Amino acid sequence: MAILEKHKILEKNATLLLVFSFLAVTVGGIVEIAPLFYLENTIEEVDGVRPYSPLELEGREVYIREGCYVCHSQMIRPMRDEVERYGHYSLAAESMYDHPFQWGSKRTGPDLARVGGRYSDEWHVDHMTNPQSVVPESVMPKYGFLMNKMIEPEHIGDLMATHRIVGVPYTDEMLEQAKADFIAQADPFSDADGLLERYPGAQVRNFDGQPGISEMDALIAYMQMLGTLVDFSTFTPEASR
Ligand code: HEC
Repeated sequence: MAILEKHKILEKNATLLLVFSFLAVTVGGIVEIAPLFYLENTIEEVDGVRPYSPLELEGREVYIREGCYVCHSQMIRPMRDEVERYGHYSLAAESMYDHPFQWGSKRTGPDLARVGGRYSDEWHVDHMTNPQSVVPESVMPKYGFLMNKMIEPEHIGDLMATHRIVGVPYTDEMLEQAKADFIAQADPFSDADGLLERYPGAQVRNFDGQPGISEMDALIAYMQMLGTLVDFSTFTPEASR
């Protein structure tokens, strides 16, 4: 009872209550914020996560330019309904090379964090060209024009250099080979050894099925790699190691 009586003093004196509330919030804040100054990185490292290949990065640019994030999220929350529908919940490391991140805030369409490998390239071409042809009730707009927009990769190295400024570990070699890697990834007959060494797991093929490298190629290359870098059959969170 005595402590409640003492608390009464606080509750009856607005200034005192304010001072003590401020103290309580300050202590809580310091406990949460101070460790961040000592930790090098708050993102747990995960095997398999690598920077985007030049073609994937370009596809990501198309994704951002077209505003796909307005209708699609890229963040699977660790709740049962989401995990059963979309797969393993998203790890922080999986978007560590995203500048800006594409988590999104609205799901008019499904989450795309693990859409890689879920459909064939042909399905994507059909779906992007006319979504209603494969999902009759779809409200997604048509993006067929991307097939006709060819990409000259003159500036891909600059784009990667910009990402390097904000922390993506692209090496000098990656920047030098940017153009060649860009072209090699969309050509099934190319020598892709260098590309695969620099970007393990990169998928090499003609994504849109027509000659030349279009924005559709880049966008599909990007979508087909989303969520495929981490092998979840062997992944264990650091906390449970
Ligand atoms: C106006 C909202 C809207 C926009 C903008 C939009 N989508 Fe969609 N998207 C949808 C809806 C709704 C669906 C579900 C029906 C369907 O499959 O078409 C969907 C489905 C998809 C799917 C199939 C996902 C799955 O798991 O079945 C992919 C892939 C996709 N969209 C990619 C894109 C890309 C890439 C862009 C940008 C170029 C884009 N969307 C822009 C609304 C949108």
